[in-house]
Amino acid sequence: MGAPNLLNPERRMLRAMQLSEASRTWDLDGILAACEWTDQAVAVGAGHGLQNHGLVEVTEETLREIRLDVAGEQAVEAGLLEARLWAWMGEQETATMQGLQSVFERHEAGPGVGLLKQLGVGIEGGQLVANDPEAITKAIGQRTSFLQSLPLDATDVDGEMLKHFSSRKQLIQTVERTVRHWRLTEAGEAVSPDDLQETMVITDITPELLQGEDWKTAEFRSFDVTLEATTPRTGRSHPMQALIERIRAIFLEMGFSELVDDYVQSAGWNMDALFIPQDHPAREMQDTFYLDQPSSIDLDEGVMQAWKAIHEHGGETGSTGWGGSYSTEVSKRPLLRTHTTVNTIQYLARHPKEACRVFSVDRVFRKEAIDRTHLPEFHQIEGIIMEEGANLQMLVTTLKTFYAKMGYPEVRVRPAYFPYTEPSLEIEVKWRGKWLELGGAGIFRPEVTEPLGITSPVLAWGMGLERLAMLVLGLDDIRQLYISDLEWLRNQPIL
Ligand code: PHE
Repeated sequence: MGAPNLLNPERRMLRAMQLSEASRTWDLDGILAACEWTDQAVAVGAGHGLQNHGLVEVTEETLREIRLDVAGEQAVEAGLLEARLWAWMGEQETATMQGLQSVFERHEAGPGVGLLKQLGVGIEGGQLVANDPEAITKAIGQRTSFLQSLPLDATDVDGEMLKHFSSRKQLIQTVERTVRHWRLTEAGEAVSPDDLQETMVITDITPELLQGEDWKTAEFRSFDVTLEATTPRTGRSHPMQALIERIRAIFLEMGFSELVDDYVQSAGWNMDALFIPQDHPAREMQDTFYLDQPSSIDLDEGVMQAWKAIHEHGGETGSTGWGGSYSTEVSKRPLLRTHTTVNTIQYLARHPKEACRVFSVDRVFRKEAIDRTHLPEFHQIEGIIMEEGANLQMLVTTLKTFYAKMGYPEVRVRPAYFPYTEPSLEIEVKWRGKWLELGGAGIFRPEVTEPLGITSPVLAWGMGLERLAMLVLGLDDIRQLYISDLEWLRNQPIL
């Protein structure tokens, strides 16, 4: 038969196979060694080409391997949750539920007690008791050594363990791997070694090449654009950034302008302007990040006097205020803003008479312990509408429109309380059949608007961005947004 037109790697592979006995079955390592290749993609590619020419036969087998998943890797490093709880129990004179809950975070304590119960730990009057501690130690030991033994071929894995760990979250995963074998066909055997000399093939066209004459007689490598290739990893926006852009686009489209302002603010604008009493618990050191530098922020005397009147006796509003005595020192204290309402209220103070629609998507700070749903730094989606005749209906419609554009058509509001709005609302969105609270809203009270000379009604809202991101990205842990997990980031949908 005429020699097929083979690429160099195909020639080399066929040549190598011909040099062994014809009936040999080759595996990948055999091919790599015989051809002196290190890149398995070259071998697989050449084998594929030879198969297409009918010169080799390929058999493919899919093997399943059981490997550690993310939580499994952590468990191997830090111990399985039940192992850590069991070790803790061993160290206690009397192990109580209360003790356990004070040592383990809620997201561990809950499932952990479940695991202990399955292992034979009972709860009697708030105390954790084990009747057969040896059996528990043994069972935990078996689980741990199982995880340590991974990766294993699926056929070698203990069925009970597999069943157990498959029901737990992200401890193990099954990964499929294709194993190929190659064999010469008769046609492959028959190709003359003379036709298998490797030729000079041009794969890259360079200026040097074109300046010479060699290219005129050389062979050019042809490309098969239908072959499978790896997905190129290109740069792209972080999902949070992409989400912020989407929110911006929606508010801009709804006729809002964006407001960007500083993190560092005075307690006066962050709280006093919003009629939050000076003894309000949210102002305490344990909730708010106060700053030492600058040591105080200058505020307009007139504005502070107006707040004083409002806070002490309601000013001219007919309100009775909070009573007590208002302190300008407290107002001047610098802090990291706890909400972006501090910025919209100042915008209004600068433009008390012009109707406006303003929004911001920006960072705020609260002294929160970090857990599944809390971060000390997060973002709020803030907005105001000020115009003559603005009313509650308009506020609700605006929020509903926003969430509908985000893809959440089911929105409801419930009564809530904020010192600066009346009425005050809580906004909830339906997600996977459940109502989730995403933010607060309301109409600014006269105690807020009058000292600043605002006469039209102001609709205002502040909503959590990360909460929304959790819905959009289907997360159950807020921290995932900020840990720079590259694998996860690469696999996020483009928003
Ligand atoms: N500032 C409130 C918060 O941080 C939200 C809010 C904004 C409520 C505007 C009413 C009006 O939760």
